[in-house]
Amino acid sequence: MPDAPARLVVLVSGSGTNLQALIDACADPSYGAQIVAVGADRDGIRGLERAESASIPTFVARVGDFSSREHWDAALADKVAAFEPDLVVLAGFMKLVGPAFLERFGGRTVNTHPALSPSFPGMHGPRDALEYGVKITGATLFVVDAGVDTGAIVAQRAVPVEDDDDVASLHERIKVAERAMLVESVGRIAREGIRVDGRRVRFGS
Ligand code: GRF
Repeated sequence: MPDAPARLVVLVSGSGTNLQALIDACADPSYGAQIVAVGADRDGIRGLERAESASIPTFVARVGDFSSREHWDAALADKVAAFEPDLVVLAGFMKLVGPAFLERFGGRTVNTHPALSPSFPGMHGPRDALEYGVKITGATLFVVDAGVDTGAIVAQRAVPVEDDDDVASLHERIKVAERAMLVESVGRIAREGIRVDGRRVRFGS
């Protein structure tokens, strides 16, 4: 177990229930991590309110405020770097980070996706799983790379699709499993580290 808690920067775009699960977990010193900042790509979201309620510093980097996607990506990387994170957690962050970001934080940025990768990448994992008719879907935590939900897999949780599900009910069931997966895995990364060997990810240094 490292001497100091791992420093997390969490990026969000929405309601922030995954963020809240991490905030709650970090309240226990034995969890081994602290959230040093929460960033967002938009204002006025519940995720930022949750951070402010927990007295965690926040920042916003909106794509529309920059002359190009590349400038936004570099500015986002600068804002994250200012908080000197050990690990960056994308928790419902609805933007793809780009080359400048990955140059600095590649290998130590994880993202959570509401489907069982490699099935149903992209913005609509629950909807796409429902439309396809799978009986099992779930959540995936992965190490972010340049693709869309393609990174090496850290953890997965399976979730059943019920006959009467709609997108909302299925996504809510996935999110329960997703939060537990995120809290358990981020804690293990903080306390034990991870090794990425090609597509194989193992906890431990
Ligand atoms: C999560 O299911 C995440 O995987 C997806 O959007 C949802 C965000 O939920 N991309 P929240 O903002 O953490 O409540």
